[in-house]
Amino acid sequence: MTETVLLVGGGGREHAIARTLDDGDCDLYACAGNRNPGIARIAQGFEALDTTNTSAVTSYAEEVGATLAVIGPEAPLQAGVADALSDAGVFPFGPSAEGARIETDKAYQRRFMREHDISGCPEFETFEDTEEACEYIDSSTIDLAVKPAGLTGGKGVKVIGDQVNREEAKAYLREEEYDRIVLEERFVGEEFTVQGLVANGSLRVTPAVQDHKRAYEGDEGPNTGGMGSYSAAGLELPFMGEEEYREAVGILDETVAALGEYTGVLYGQFMLTADGVKVIEYNARFGDPEAMNTLPTMNSDFLDVLVAAREGEELPQLSFAPRATVCKYAVPDGYPVDPQGGTLIEVDEESVARAATENGDAALFYASVDDRDEGIYTTTSRAFAVVGIAGTIAEAEAIAENALNEADEGVRIRHDIGTEQLVQSRIDHMGELRGE
Ligand code: AMP
Ligand code: GLY
Repeated sequence: MTETVLLVGGGGREHAIARTLDDGDCDLYACAGNRNPGIARIAQGFEALDTTNTSAVTSYAEEVGATLAVIGPEAPLQAGVADALSDAGVFPFGPSAEGARIETDKAYQRRFMREHDISGCPEFETFEDTEEACEYIDSSTIDLAVKPAGLTGGKGVKVIGDQVNREEAKAYLREEEYDRIVLEERFVGEEFTVQGLVANGSLRVTPAVQDHKRAYEGDEGPNTGGMGSYSAAGLELPFMGEEEYREAVGILDETVAALGEYTGVLYGQFMLTADGVKVIEYNARFGDPEAMNTLPTMNSDFLDVLVAAREGEELPQLSFAPRATVCKYAVPDGYPVDPQGGTLIEVDEESVARAATENGDAALFYASVDDRDEGIYTTTSRAFAVVGIAGTIAEAEAIAENALNEADEGVRIRHDIGTEQLVQSRIDHMGELRGE
């Protein structure tokens, strides 16, 4: 039987998922709030709808006769789209709203870690009262990470001693008036992501990726959804050892065991510190941009994973090409503070095609852009990404830069991502922290 898969979401991550599914033997349909031209081109049908509207998504799934669904972003997971699809008889690869709380509620996430004694959990306290949180900030002798408990697209966290001082942290909380706040021990080190595919109690992991959250080159400026990312040809990254990658996988293993019933992606955001691997957070979906590093090098058929998940089987083992990747996002001018959406932009698909070399490939992923009659318009979120795929990070970086071909009209790019200099500074940073 040919499977019919409904993909929910219209970002760069979902374009990467669509392309992976397109390699397999299935009929693909997609729905998203924006008309992503990359996905629309691949899918047999594309419906513009609000992906947090559970009945709109299930109606479309039923209309196209979906047998499986992949839910890309966190917002539909939080809204219960997986639950609704499941009730409608469509198997969702993505957790229920309750399962997604591991991402959508940071207070729950930390309590869950504490309760199950999962390794890498920071000291933390949760608050429902802003003034109590401010008093805690005043009385604490260590630097803290200040987190709204709910979803903020990766942009709500402020780290004392890094982005803000104590007074600024308190002013921030008073201004935003979040109803629930987590204050936790600040970790110092290098961040990395390991995405695991989970179903029926089995966990299959993917190579580590490093995202770049800060808006500007040299890791300056506000946090974003992620400006770009790289992965190495093996499982670990240049600043870490095999042992440390295994430590992160061990934490994911402990988490899957504690979660019990969970289907979908379990994304671990880790900090490698002088004192081992710590958990910054979990997400209940692929990373964006990280999916664009991981899926293009995955040799295994993603459709086999989805079918095994539905059939109650252990997931198949995954294999990855020994290739490094560098992903660079083009974001609208002013992103993330004052993004200039609604701008007509030029995306040079030919320069991406020309950037491939004898030794490497180039890929383009459309993200939160809207394809209209007159052309491609930016929204207030990330616009498109290019990925270089080659034997080394340096080669992949050069390919990504060629693919961009000096794109700069209406968009901004962090050109430092994946450069030898930036990667070396990560290695040096870990060396310093380890006292080498
Ligand atoms: P999150 O939304 O939890 O991913 O946090 C956004 C960013 O804030 C992370 O990528 C980190 O850079 C930073 N962050 C979060 N928690 C901590 C922590 N405990 N220590 C240091 N930095 C943190
Ligand atoms: N790359 C960060 C995220 O997907 O949350």
